Amino acid sequence: MQVRKARPEDLDAIEAIENTVFESDRLSRRSLRRYIGAGSVSMLVAHESRAVTGYALIGFRRGSLKGRLYSIAVDRERAGRGLGRALLQACEAETRRRACESLLLEVRADNPRAIALYEKAGYERRGSEPDYYEDGATALRFEKTLAQD
Ligand SMILES: CC(C)(COP(=O)(O)OP(=O)(O)OC[C@H]1O[C@@H](n2cnc3c(N)ncnc32)[C@H](O)[C@@H]1OP(=O)(O)O)[C@@H](O)C(=O)NCCC(=O)NCCS
Repeated sequence: MQVRKARPEDLDAIEAIENTVFESDRLSRRSLRRYIGAGSVSMLVAHESRAVTGYALIGFRRGSLKGRLYSIAVDRERAGRGLGRALLQACEAETRRRACESLLLEVRADNPRAIALYEKAGYERRGSEPDYYEDGATALRFEKTLAQD
């Protein structure tokens, strides 16, 4: 498995993953298309030979030293095999590469699998926001300060 920047031809695979793993708050095909190659974000894909098996999207704001993980998702059939962890590490490397000092994220309070991934990777709780998602679910905020090289 390797991680690289997403390309326009990855759109179908990314959209398929988005639509199978998330039940609400999905990114539309149009948004995903816009994000691939946009300067204010980095869209990364995990791939095994030619097959895209996961993706992650990080947003950056001019003048901010914090990156924000907008989304991370792994093909259902390949979950639980270390792909999420590898993608998250690649997101951290990309965030450092873009001269940011920390990575922020929100996660649904009812998503123990993702919360476990973030906590094991050293993310710290920074509070919560009720009614954050379309269905009214609470978001937990996490942040990790990234070691600089
Ligand atoms: C969350 C997600 C990205 C994790 O990716 P993954 O490839 O399945 O995870 P990994 O195999 O890299 O596992 C990393 C850690 O996640 C946790 N984890 C993975 N599978 C788990 C499971 N079935 N139950 C509980 N924790 C689990 C564990 O802490 C694991 O570490 P460990 O292997 O040392 O125990 C993936 O499950 C996914 O796409 N979920 C749906 C989309 C989603 O919820 N995205 C997050 C939005 S904030």
